Amino acid sequence: MKLQEVEPSKAYRLFYPTLAVLLSASFKGEDDVIPVVSHCSLSFDPPLFGVAISPKNYTHKLVKSSGCFAFNIVDVEMAKSIFASGDISARNEKKKLSVVGLELQKARKIHGKTVKGALSVIECGIQQTIQTGDHDLFIARCEQAYASEDFNEYWQFKQYSPALYIGSTGGKVKKHRLAELSRKFSEFPYIHTGR
Ligand SMILES: Cc1cc2nc3c(=O)[nH]c(=O)nc-3n(C[C@H](O)[C@H](O)[C@H](O)COP(=O)(O)O)c2cc1C
Repeated sequence: MKLQEVEPSKAYRLFYPTLAVLLSASFKGEDDVIPVVSHCSLSFDPPLFGVAISPKNYTHKLVKSSGCFAFNIVDVEMAKSIFASGDISARNEKKKLSVVGLELQKARKIHGKTVKGALSVIECGIQQTIQTGDHDLFIARCEQAYASEDFNEYWQFKQYSPALYIGSTGGKVKKHRLAELSRKFSEFPYIHTGR
């Protein structure tokens, strides 16, 4: 098989589909939520996560100032809110959350808020920030995590249908796309690796 060249600045797209997660951050009465795909698990013990956020995003300011944020994992049913919160900036739209149809509630442990209707939440406190390139990498410790009953050691995909991001088409109006794996996910054949 002949592999075609991929522009290095677009190589991140080879990781898609990636779970689109809503990241919520609050500071001094201001709240913001953005979808993120540049997230990863960095360590089991201690439980560390990484997320790359562009300093151009208003959320970056709230995350940096508060020192905490929450990952909110939502169902694909919330696709409209996922995309809207990724297209609108709180810098220009002071009512961003109501415009994108999201409500927040007090977090359990951190001094922040979480997205109402999320199927799971990972509340994080920042331990380290690394300037990478055009994004900053926030390394954060999971302070508390909780999930709906569909999660039993692993997701069962009986009620949860993940929002898998596959990229956006260009043009004047960006069209974001999610993989349509829908609820059939739980019927996929499992691959047993013996691990
Ligand atoms: C599906 C999706 C995933 C995104 N992932 C990230 C990400 O990982 N990091 C980031 O900095 N921006 C990401 N963005 C872009 C921000 O969500 C977007 O710029 C947002 O409007 C910024 O809003 P704010 O200025 O209110 O923070 C993503 C956008 C979409 C649609």
